[in-house]
This record gives sequence, structure tokens and C-alpha cells, in this order.
Amino acid sequence: MSLHIETAAARLATEPNPYLEGPYAPMRDEITLEDLAVVGEIPDDLNGVYVRNGPNPQFDPRGRYHWFDGDGMVHALHIADGSATYRNRWIRTEGFERERESGGVLWTGIIEPFDGNPAGVPEKDTANTSVVFHKDHLLALWYRAGKPYALDPVTLETIGAEDFGGTLRCEVSAHAKVDEQTGELFFFDYGLKPPYMRYGVVSPEGAIRHFVPIDLPGPRLPHDMAITKNHAILMDLPLFNDPEAAKLGRFKLFFDGERSSRFGVIPRYGDADEVRWFEAEPCFIYHSVNAWEEDREIVLEVCRVTKPEPRSDLDGPLAQMLSYLRLDAHLHRYRFDLGTGRTREEVVDDDNSEFPSINLGRVGSHTRYAYNMHISPEKTLLFDGLMKYDTSDGSAETHWFGDGRWGSEAPFAPRPGGVGEDDGYLLSYVYDERAGRSDVEVLDAHDLAAGPLCRIELPVRVPLGFHATWVPGERLPGGSA
Ligand SMILES: [Fe+2]
Repeated sequence: MSLHIETAAARLATEPNPYLEGPYAPMRDEITLEDLAVVGEIPDDLNGVYVRNGPNPQFDPRGRYHWFDGDGMVHALHIADGSATYRNRWIRTEGFERERESGGVLWTGIIEPFDGNPAGVPEKDTANTSVVFHKDHLLALWYRAGKPYALDPVTLETIGAEDFGGTLRCEVSAHAKVDEQTGELFFFDYGLKPPYMRYGVVSPEGAIRHFVPIDLPGPRLPHDMAITKNHAILMDLPLFNDPEAAKLGRFKLFFDGERSSRFGVIPRYGDADEVRWFEAEPCFIYHSVNAWEEDREIVLEVCRVTKPEPRSDLDGPLAQMLSYLRLDAHLHRYRFDLGTGRTREEVVDDDNSEFPSINLGRVGSHTRYAYNMHISPEKTLLFDGLMKYDTSDGSAETHWFGDGRWGSEAPFAPRPGGVGEDDGYLLSYVYDERAGRSDVEVLDAHDLAAGPLCRIELPVRVPLGFHATWVPGERLPGGSA
């Protein structure tokens, strides 16, 4: 065992970690940049905040670093009256503050054993994964299920851990869903102990109004959920933390390709015994696109990973991380028949894409368009294009970012007074390798082929990261842009 560790450590010393350099290298400073240069013109009716979360380690890591480990940092572009301001701020989680006080790292990441980490807190909750806007503030959320951290949507100041007025009795995973029609927030958490999952609803006023245990057959690693007008959809997929590794205090993924995927459909305010489970082919799903109801069917569209197990052609101490991050996902549709209990599933398109966004005003209602990041076939999880899918026939229009330019999840910004589902804009941080800095491309969601309406230039590089959202100007504090 010791020989293995020494060998791995020796190799690590000579093997650069791709997620600490190049487009992923962390920013060391928190900055505010006003009146950014613009190539083209920012549309008059585009006012609000484009904010993206992602990992950005405060200190050099101890042991092997996984891309998912870094402290959460939000990057926001605030657009108002034709000018743009950029801010980046770390999320002041408890773990971040403890490490800052100690002057160095206290936690290892998920590739290393947890047993040397602070007592009672085996993993550092970084809040680094996703960001949603609920009530009047942002919530930064973590994929392993942790505390939601409330942030000011303009200054990005961490307001604090959100416990929903003292009503929160569990953790919250990264992909909570806001129903903009009702103002409710739907969420789940998951963990190692029965019932292994819990589901809840937060009221528009910000208090938990519904909370139920969801019994799974064992610990799972669900990443996303979906809602429809009357239901929530939860996932039991055959990807686990290897139980043997867990006993040793380690984290190691294991995919059981013999076990079905299961989707739990529960009325929004249903009890635990009202969950109906629908079986489907084995797979893993990072992200759902949207779900809705059609007659007696629940329709769920996702980015489906057919074979999530690592490919064997990589070697070295980071092989498992690099293998799993070679995502191979495609747009996929499920139909769960509430009458017969049967599932139908179909490939919508077989191109490799992930990190979908939609018009957030339509979460839970029928959508025709999905805006997916196209995954480069040559580089591990770099996005070389932004796709606009017409899910009715699987056709797509793609905006390619260009040689050496890598995009970021692109939220949809509805045009004020817009009527159509795609009446609005798409925004994406794009890192330009040759320039060594980033810009923000703004596209007309009606016409991706026309190319960007404008590029908002940054004098800095925004590290590639995870999820983003758009907060319309009229919803910001004070109600103005
Ligand atoms: Fe995610």
C-alpha cells in the first residue's frame, strides 16, 4: 500500500494537473471591472446579471486535485443601460473561512482519502456547482448536497448559509428548480444513510412548506431532478460510490450496467408513498433539460450518458477523473405513462452535448428549444460550440466559438415583453487561448447563425467552470437594472 502511494505521489509530482492550469487555472484575486470594452453593441433591452459558478481553489491543494474540489467562485457580468461590469467573488462557505483563518488547506479533495480531514466534516462544502435565483437573492449550491449559500445578485457578497427561516432540516444538492410561475423552489438531497434521498419544496416567501423522505435501495449519486406542473421527478441511477471504497473513507465511482435506471414521479406535494417509479435502460444523467405533462404522460428530456464507466486507455494518478470527465452525452427523451406505468425512451440526437439551458420562465412546461454546449471531440470537456436544439425533430443550429475558444454554459435571457419561447439572448463566457483572456458573447437566440451581437471584452481570464443563470434587471434589488 505504501509503495503504491509513493509511486502515485512520485508520478503526481511530474504530472501537471490539467484542471489547475490553462483555461482552468484559478483566479487569485477578487476584482471589479466597470465600463468594459464592447465589440458591437449591447442590445438596449438586455439588462440584468449573467452569473456563473465554478471551482476556484483558494490555496494550492494537498494531494491530487479533482476539478470538482475547488472553492466556489461566482463570476458575474452586470449589464445595465448598455454598459457592463464584471465581478468575481469567492463564496464565503464555512470551509472557505476555516481555511482562510488557518492560512492553508484543511481538506483534501474527492480523489484522496477523507480520514485526515477536519473531524465530523469529511468533505468541504464548497457551494461551487450551481447558482439559482430565488425570491430576491442567488443561492450557490453544491453537487454533493450541502448548505445553500445566499449571495447578493449584484455585489456577489455572501449573505450567509440559507436555512429558509430555520425550516431547513436537510441539505440541498446542486440542481434545485425554481418555478417562476409560482415562486416555489424544489430540491432534493442525498446521502449515505437511509432513506438516501429527501425531497422538499420552499415557498415563494422562503420557508420549507413540504418535505418527504424518498426511500432508495441504497446510496446513490443523483445529480439533477425535474419538475412538471403537478409533479417532481427524482432519479435513482445505477452509479454509486463503491461501497468497499467508502469503508476505507475513499470515494470511487462504480457503474452497474446490469441495473435499471429508475425515475420517481411524485406529486409536487405528495407523500413518500405516492412516488411512482418508472424503469428505464441503465445510464447516468448529469443534467435534465426540462419536463412537462402531455395528457397522462410525463415527458422528461435529459442529456443521457449511456456508458459512464471510465475508458481504460488512460493511466496515472488522475486517470479516473480524466476518464469520467470525457463526457459522452446526448439529448434523450423519456415518456412515463401514468396510466400504464410503462416507460418509453428515445434518442433525440446523438451529438455530444451537455450543460443545457432553457427559457427559465418555462421550467415544468412544454419547451421546444434547448441550448446545449457542444463537447469538443478532441479535448476533455471543453465546449467548442453552442447548440440550439429544436427538440421537436432533433435538429440543431450551432454557433462555433472558433479555434482555441472555449465557451461556458449559456443561460437564456428573455427579452422584456418577448412573446416566443426563444425571444431573447444567450450569454457565454468564452476563453480565448491565444489572447489568454475571456470575453462574453451575446447571441440572439432567434438566430445563432448570425454570430454574436456583441462581445464584451474582459482583460482577464475567467476559468472554465460549471453552471450559470440569468437574473433579469427588473428582479434585482430596487427593481431596476
Ligand atoms: Fe450540474
